[in-house]
Amino acid sequence: MSAKVVVIGSLNMDLVTRAPRLPKGGETLIGHSFATVSGGKGANQAVAAARLGAQVSMVGCVGDDPYGQVLRDALLADHIDCQAVSTVADSSGVALIVVDDNSQNAIVIVPGANGALTSAAIDQADPVLQTAEVIICQLEVPDATVGHALKRGRALGKTVILNPAPASRPLPADWFATIDYLIPNESEAATLSGLPVDSLATAQAAAARLISMGAGKVIVTLGEQGVLFVQGDRVEHFTAFAVKAVDTTAAGDTFVGGFAAALAAGQSEAEAIRFGQVAAALSVTRAGAQPSIPTLSDVQAFKPS
Ligand code: RIB
Repeated sequence: MSAKVVVIGSLNMDLVTRAPRLPKGGETLIGHSFATVSGGKGANQAVAAARLGAQVSMVGCVGDDPYGQVLRDALLADHIDCQAVSTVADSSGVALIVVDDNSQNAIVIVPGANGALTSAAIDQADPVLQTAEVIICQLEVPDATVGHALKRGRALGKTVILNPAPASRPLPADWFATIDYLIPNESEAATLSGLPVDSLATAQAAAARLISMGAGKVIVTLGEQGVLFVQGDRVEHFTAFAVKAVDTTAAGDTFVGGFAAALAAGQSEAEAIRFGQVAAALSVTRAGAQPSIPTLSDVQAFKPS
């Protein structure tokens, strides 16, 4: 049987507009297109881990609206166990996304039902957590719930990953000891460490600060500058694969899900990072969140240019 990954986090319906550029404050732009696409950082990471070889369970909440059913069905289509996905009396989470002609995006999320994922829901899902080899959390559900889940994952002796996205403030100090792998992007690394991050050297300094705050291993994703792994004095840089970017939405989620799936399958950290990078590179060549996430055979067929 394939290795087990449990993802605790958000499900969002992405309302995606493509436009020539991101609008300025007070400006109205004419867009190229509009689409509704299943997303949410938690659900995207679950889909990535599932398509990339893991057996996956999702823990989260959707609303009792039509989006809720679509979001659940999308996970079921990828054979993700949804016994711990609750339907609550609220609107499903939504993300308003603009993607410009340079494939950059801007996102506003309205959590809706994601806000109903409580610590009690994590306790109810404990039998699911117990089946995990790797547990992944992000920050699109309430902080108290994330903290509770991280601590339970640590108490159960699981490998615990936190993708601190989106990050708007430093992490609670007592979270660090619960996390095996902290995986921020460059802006999240800056927010969490309080240091500017705009190069490999500054990313390394931010990771060192996060380690001094208690993080065990830090993996900073740096887009075209690749990935930086830091653990104590061990620093490894993984260069990025060159691809023609169409849409970077969910690239970070694809990396995290792919890394987790590979780690759960017994690959080394370096192999899991490379695997996650290939998956993320493929995802940016396609539009949308979940539709852009590649399968294991896509990754195996990838030839770097
Ligand atoms: O990481 C991409 C995701 O962020 C989107 O799918 C959107 O739902 C937001 O949560």
